Amino acid sequence: MIEEVFQQIFGSPPEVVVRAPGRVNLIGEHTDYNDGFVLPAAIDREITYAGRRRADRRVRVYSDDFKASVDFDLDDIQKDSEHAWSNFLRGVSKFLQADGHRLTGADIAFGGDVPREAGLSSSAAVEVGATAFWNKLLSLGLDPVYVVKLSRRAENEFVGVPCGIMDQFISALGRRDHALFLDCRDLTYRHVPLRADVKIVVCNSGVKRALAQSEYEVRLKQCREAVAKIAAATGRAVKSLRDVQLSDLEAAEGTMDNLLWRRAHHVVSENQRVLEAVKVLESGHLERFGELMNQSHESLRDDYEVSSKELDQLVELARRQPGVFGARMTGAGFGGCTVNLVRADAAESFAQAVALGYEKALGLKAEIYVCRASDGALVSA
Ligand code: GLA
Repeated sequence: MIEEVFQQIFGSPPEVVVRAPGRVNLIGEHTDYNDGFVLPAAIDREITYAGRRRADRRVRVYSDDFKASVDFDLDDIQKDSEHAWSNFLRGVSKFLQADGHRLTGADIAFGGDVPREAGLSSSAAVEVGATAFWNKLLSLGLDPVYVVKLSRRAENEFVGVPCGIMDQFISALGRRDHALFLDCRDLTYRHVPLRADVKIVVCNSGVKRALAQSEYEVRLKQCREAVAKIAAATGRAVKSLRDVQLSDLEAAEGTMDNLLWRRAHHVVSENQRVLEAVKVLESGHLERFGELMNQSHESLRDDYEVSSKELDQLVELARRQPGVFGARMTGAGFGGCTVNLVRADAAESFAQAVALGYEKALGLKAEIYVCRASDGALVSA
């Protein structure tokens, strides 16, 4: 328990404790930075913060995961490459102050069980947890969407990772036993109930997301290039791939090379899949939902080219098991996890069979998490 860790490190109990979950994305991959649609769920793996105010301007922070401490001055917040785990908190603190929120010094301990670099958004949980922590400790009364945007800003502008908004959004605003349907353009959202007889099963390939950042940046650029070509070809004011229909893509096919076309095709078709997935989830038609998940994987593998041999293997094994509705890679890709929708009564045998098959096929160990959709940091606060 983080309260006990705090007590041990700082010698007295914390004033506040805040938690922020990781996430899994059910469908809608690489659509958020194209102003598109996503359908993630927060999971029951989380980062917790415990802390107490100090009378001065210093922040002393202990990472329970790294078993290390560092401290910084609120009036001179710099990036720390030696204690990179502290940069999320530093970035959040810096931008809160830049926006006029007066922070005080604090003693803080944090840690959790969201696997790192596994595509389950441990970074977003750390950032959203940090923002929610200051909000609670100092009663800042922050608007929820502001919390999301500020947390993302820390990642984009301080840590230097050009992610979209999905991960921070779901870590802040997820709801127990629900997925969250988000329009990444206007940030309207609604919670969609998940059936109690179905489990979200996450299979961790154990392969860290090598290449993920550089290839992510390449995809971002390709999407922008495709938008410019499609706008020119159709003569329409196309701002992002969100504004593109499959028929526009056909019209533009001759104007761009095949690689760019396939990138755009993934995003445009994925947006359509999300819209249909939300409808069928709301009507309880999980067979169709699973088909859409499967199509999403194929599109990420063949058109967007962000899967890996390990993820493809996990997906293939999953689809052979009884009780499975659908299986796909989740998150940015190039390693990390798959997400599977499995009948609750089949989830345990599914987990065992996939782990065994994966070891046989590739000689690798997969960790399998049977997850429950959980409340976001601001919902449970
Ligand atoms: C990472 C990013 C998200 C999103 C996904 C891909 O998780 O942080 O913003 O782009 O990749 O869907």
